Amino acid sequence: MTWLSNCKLMVAALAGSAVVSALPGFTTFTPRADEELAAYDMHNRRDANPLLAREKAYDNCTAPIALVGKAPKKNIWGGLSNAEVTSILGYVHDPASGLNLTSYDKKTLWDNYVYLVEQVMPNKTEAVSYMEGSGPAPDRYARVAISFGATETPYYEDYIVGPLPISEKTKVEPLTYYYNKGTSKQYNFRHDNSVRNKWK
Ligand SMILES: *[C@@H]1O[C@H](CO)[C@@H](O)[C@H](O)[C@H]1NC(C)=O
Ligand SMILES: *[C@@H]1O[C@H](CO)[C@@H](O)[C@H](O)[C@H]1NC(C)=O
Ligand SMILES: *[C@@H]1O[C@H](CO)[C@@H](O)[C@H](O)[C@H]1NC(C)=O
Repeated sequence: MTWLSNCKLMVAALAGSAVVSALPGFTTFTPRADEELAAYDMHNRRDANPLLAREKAYDNCTAPIALVGKAPKKNIWGGLSNAEVTSILGYVHDPASGLNLTSYDKKTLWDNYVYLVEQVMPNKTEAVSYMEGSGPAPDRYARVAISFGATETPYYEDYIVGPLPISEKTKVEPLTYYYNKGTSKQYNFRHDNSVRNKWK
């Protein structure tokens, strides 16, 4: 289907209804000749319009050009950078955190290990005050999801780490306010599957 790689050829083909209905996969397509031709005409006129010159890159169906612009505020929902994630992992794996974590590559089910790190989105009040007012950028926080396996009764629990970057002000504590039940703690009986299966 090489014709698909050339937009001009495709538009020309669409304008000719006989060609369209003869194409496999297009048999149910009802060409609206006037509109297709108008679109084709616009395509030609666009070439002559300097304001639309940047769109010429579409001629070969290339990806659209990124618009050049500068956002007035930084993106406060953009996720964590790799550097942030690395520093967070270092922070929670430090014995001082009290979480007794085993690194992911060495863990077994019966260890405590981190299985997810992601941004905790800022609360609306702080976000609006920054985006629409003159408030400071909201502090950044991370959700660190942990599988606690170094116990008789394994469970998952989410922690919140912040503010970022890591400093003396940074704390790690259970993330509770996300959850209506007041805790993210979820017992995990998967660890005992081998024992449970013996009962079958
Ligand atoms: C489209 O492709 C042709 C042939 O490869 C090339 O000469 C031309 O510069 C391309 N045009 C654009 C706008 O990329
Ligand atoms: C820490 O985890 C290890 C297993 O990774 C376990 O053997 C040890 O008992 C745990 N320590 C405490 C204080 O819970
Ligand atoms: C968001 O609001 C909740 C409820 O007031 C509060 O407990 C939490 O600390 C706030 N989160 C952040 C990231 O500021």
